[in-house]
Order: sequence, then structure tokens, then C-alpha cells
Amino acid sequence: MREMLPILIVGSIIGTFTVIFLVAYLLEKRKKDEREYERHMSDREITARLLRYAKPYWKRFVAVLFIMLASIVYDLVSPLLIGHIIDVVGGEFELNYLFTIVAVYAGILVVSLICTYAQAMILQTTGQKILSSLREDMFIHIEALSHEQLNNIPVGKLVTRVSNDPNAISYMFTNILVTLVKNVMVIFGVLGAMLMLNYALTLMVLCFVPFVVLFTVIFRKFSRKVHRSVNDATTDINTYLSENLSGIKITQIFNQEDRKMDDFLEKSRNLKRAKQNRMMVFGIFRPMVYMLYISSVMCLLYMGGKGYIENLEMFGQIVEASTVVSFYMYISKFFNPIQTLAEQFDMLQRSFASAEKMFTIMDMVPEVVDSEDAIELTEIKGEIEFKDVWFAYKPDEWVLKGVSFHVEPRQTVAFVGSTGSGKTTILSLICRNYEIQRGQILIDGIDIKKIKISSLRKHFGQMLQDVFLFSGDIRSNIILREENISDEEVMEACRYVNADSFINKLEDGLDEVVRERGNNFSAGQRQLLSFARTIIHKPSVIILDEATANIDTETEILIQDSLEKIKDIGTMLIVAHRLSTIQHADNIIVLSHGVIVEQGNHQELLHQKGRYYQLYTLQFNKQQLMGSEVNAEI
Ligand SMILES: Nc1ncnc2c1ncn2[C@@H]1O[C@H](COP(=O)(O)OP(=O)(O)O)[C@@H](O)[C@H]1O
Ligand SMILES: [Mg+2]
Repeated sequence: MREMLPILIVGSIIGTFTVIFLVAYLLEKRKKDEREYERHMSDREITARLLRYAKPYWKRFVAVLFIMLASIVYDLVSPLLIGHIIDVVGGEFELNYLFTIVAVYAGILVVSLICTYAQAMILQTTGQKILSSLREDMFIHIEALSHEQLNNIPVGKLVTRVSNDPNAISYMFTNILVTLVKNVMVIFGVLGAMLMLNYALTLMVLCFVPFVVLFTVIFRKFSRKVHRSVNDATTDINTYLSENLSGIKITQIFNQEDRKMDDFLEKSRNLKRAKQNRMMVFGIFRPMVYMLYISSVMCLLYMGGKGYIENLEMFGQIVEASTVVSFYMYISKFFNPIQTLAEQFDMLQRSFASAEKMFTIMDMVPEVVDSEDAIELTEIKGEIEFKDVWFAYKPDEWVLKGVSFHVEPRQTVAFVGSTGSGKTTILSLICRNYEIQRGQILIDGIDIKKIKISSLRKHFGQMLQDVFLFSGDIRSNIILREENISDEEVMEACRYVNADSFINKLEDGLDEVVRERGNNFSAGQRQLLSFARTIIHKPSVIILDEATANIDTETEILIQDSLEKIKDIGTMLIVAHRLSTIQHADNIIVLSHGVIVEQGNHQELLHQKGRYYQLYTLQFNKQQLMGSEVNAEI
């Protein structure tokens, strides 16, 4: 009985911990909102699609598999060799033979190192290739999405889809899958080698396996929980930061710094707490598995030592000194992979989740695409016709209800109406940013659905309501589409729209740096630049949406002047809330709630005394009023 005492002590310690952990495991209930992210694509579908990305590199993966086998040989053979050395040293000593074994050992070690290096290199380069092709596919796909589809996905999400998710997937190919395969092979290899050496001792080691598995399963539950809370807290703090740093000026203006700081401190503390919890969970788990490992080593030394000393024979196998040493080395090689296997399955699941999120975006079929028989338009006259056009952004919420109008080439047509009446919508439909539900839009008598989108947009110069400047310099912001345009031409376009005077005053002229969104320029200057951008390609149709909205009276006069000049370039469609800007238009279309209520030129509409007349007198009176105030001040 005394002989069994050490084994009993080890057993009772492990047993106690197991009971404690089991109780903790059962007490820890999952909250409802903590349920796993539910996937709607099957593992098989995701795997099949992912494999398509790995397929071009299958030869490399096969090579890695073989190299891996070589490196596993080291894991399996080295304990045997070391054991053999012990035997040799313990028995009749022959130096030459010892040298040979040591040399073989060193040889295997070197080969294994080279293999590990080669494997890492091949995997990393392949991983980067897969990563870049995923990323590029994703970006190209996002670019093809229609405005409507893009409206529905937050930009931050798209950024994650292009940057983080491909990373997770390539990591899966380069690390997770390979180690997973390797671990499985090592586990079986080591098991086989141990069985060959000694059944009884192998059986003893196997007794510990259920505990390792059990501890790992319990740990997984806790680790997932703490991982998730760290992730949530990080996302929370990042979202808060990105929003509040963009709006920090508003915070300062409204004196809200203290309140914002409290919010932030709380989020920061949440993150700290989550990270501390995570450390604690790992801090408990790792020593526990280590304890199992040490216990198994102690049992091995005890039982193996006993067997060796007493020269016990079991199933026809005797224990030699070398057996104990080899087993000692095998045990660590055996426990490690079992313990990491679970983690790797978790990571595999996470990669699959990333892959699914990416594929969901990839599966969005671009809504606005060229039809098969779409034609190329080399030149257009600029005749535009809307035939009973119905359009809604959201089903059944009609924004345009049966809009029909006709624009002759080189005419200037203005759209007037209160905010939300559908002016911007009409302009973006002409460029086919959205697909209309009913009716027809014709350019030069051809339905725009039959024209290649790229060739359609090439003939348009659009100046949107929200001016967007890219970071770079002034030149690149005006040229945009990369073509051979000389500085001369750029400056000429600037002169045309009267942007030259302010550009000439800049230290670097066209090379002046444009910061993110052009925030180092005034709203009026940004508008002038985007004006130059619109006309530089000499478009056949110029579309100006509230081009003069953010401009002071002085700049407006400049723009007014350039509008007169631009008129000759081609057809012009214009939305301006200052009616004085559009007085000279050939046709003025008045919209109300998505319906054309009147149209005609300035004089005709004034005579009709309808909606336009109302708007005009309203603005005119306001101007008079403001003018008289100014006079009074003087
Ligand atoms: N991207 C969009 N998604 C959904 N509704 C939109 C979108 N853009 C505009 N709308 C709606 O369409 C209507 C017309 O908008 P818009 O054409 O921009 O008006 P306007 O330019 O005349 O001020 C508004 O009621 C607006 O709420
Ligand atoms: Mg608008």
C-alpha cells in the first residue's frame, strides 16, 4: 500500500482541482446576448470558397506538408537517440559509436531547423500572396457596388472587411491549418513511439489525457468570455474615439469636455478590467496544465524508476534507463499539441467567421452594371430626356413620381424646389448612380441602360453638393482621372472658374498640400477647386448641384461669371438655391415633392405667378430687407 502512496497523492490533488473547475464551469451560465456569432454559411461552403484562394499555391502547400514531416521526424527520433546515448554511456563505452550517435542527432537537428525555416518562408510568402489577392478582390468588388448598396454599409465596416478580415484568413492558411495538421501528426506519432517503447508507461501517460482535455474545455469557456469582453471593450472605445475625435470641436464649443471625459474614463476602465480578467483566466489555466505535466513526469519517474530498479517485466517489455529518459521527453511533446489543439479550433472558427463576413460583401451583386449589349459612346451631343421616371431609394417611398422633361443640347436647365423635393436625386439618376424603377432616361435618344457606364460618366462633369477633396495636392485633386494633362491646362481650367487668383497666392501653387478632406481650405475654395475638376475634361454635360451654396457673395460673382463662360462647353444642369444664379437659364424646372409643378424660363414663370413666383418674391424681399439693414447701418 505504501508503494501506491505517491500515486494517490497526485491523484487526489488533480481530482480536487477537477472538481473545483467543474463546479465553476457549471455555475458559469452563458448570458443570452453572449451567444456565439451565428453563421449562416456552412463550414463546407466557406472551406470550398477559401480553398479557391489557396488553389493556385497547392504545390507549395504539398511541399510544406513534406517539409513538415521531416521536422516531425526530429520530434519523434530525438528522444530515442538521447535514450540510446544513455544506454551507450551506461553500458560498454565506445567513444566512436557515441560520436556517431551525437553526429546523427546534430544532423537531424540541423535538418529540422532548416525545414522549419523553409516551411516558415514558404508559408509566409504564400500567405502574403493570398492576403493581397483577397484584399484586392474585396476592394475591386466594393468599388463596383452601387451608391445604394454603399449607403447601407458603414464605412468603418468596409475598412474592417478590406483590412482585418483578409488578415485573419491568411493567418488561417499560414499558421492555424498547418499547426493543426502538424499537431495531429505529432500526437499520433508520439503515441506510436511511446507504445513501441513501453505499453504500461504509455497507459500511465494516457491517464492524464482526459484531465488535459477536461481542463482545456473548461478553460475555453472562460477564455472565450474574456476574449469577447476584451474585444467588445476595445471596439467600444475605438468607436467612441473615432466619433468623438472627429467631433471634438463641437465638444469644445459646447463645453462638454468634462462629460465626454467621464464617458471615456469609464470605457477605458472597462477595457482595463476586461484585460485583467483575461490575464487572470490565463494565469490560472497555464499553471494548471503545467501541474498535470509535472504530475505525469513525477509518476513516470516513480513508476519507471521502480520498474527499472526492480527489473519488472510487463507484456514482455522491460524498463531501461533509456526508456525513462525517452518518455520524459515524449511527455512534453505529447501534452503541448493536445492543449493547443482546442485553441486552434477556436481560431479556425474565428477565421471562418471573418471569411463569412467577407463573402457576404462579395456576394452582394453590383446593382448597376453594364448590360451585355451596352454600347460605347465616343461623343455625345448632350440631349437629355426623362420619360415618366419613377424612383424610390426605399421600396414604395417614391422620391420622384412620374418626372418627364426634355433638354436640348447645349441648353442650360435649372432645377428649383424646396429641400428634399428631389433635385439632387434627378441629377444622380442621369449619371446612373442609382437604377430607376419605372420610366426611361435617354441621352441623345439612347436609353442610358444601353450605354456603358464608364463611357456615360466620361461625358459628364459632376459637381456634387458635398465637395470631397482627397488628400494629396491641388493638381491631383483637379485632374483625378489620370490623364496626360499639362499644368497649363490645369491652370487654364482654374482661370476659367476664377480659382486661379487664390491658387496663385499659395506658396506652392498647384503643389500645395491638400489635407484630409481638404480641411486646410475654405468651403468656397474647395468649391472652386471642385468646379475646376468638373470642367477640366471638357464634359458634354455639366451638372452643378448647389455649386454656390457655401460661397460668399464675392466668390459667387466669380462663379456667376464663370458659369456664363462654361455655358458654351455643353449642356448644363444646375441646382442653385439662389435664384439670381439661374435667372438666365433656358428652362427652369420647378419641383415639389418629386413632381414637376411648372417649367419655363424666368419671365414665363414670373408671369404664371405660381410656385416659382412665390419663391422668387420671397428671396427678393429678403434681399431687399437685408440690403436696407446694411444701408441703415451705414
Ligand atoms: N441616399 C438616400 N437614401 C434614402 N433617401 C434619400 C437618399 N438621398 C435622398 N433621400 C431622400 O430623397 C428625397 C429627395 O432628396 P434630394 O434629391 O437630395 O433632395 P434635394 O436635393 O431636392 O434637396 C428626400 O426626402 C431625402 O430624404
Ligand atoms: Mg440636394
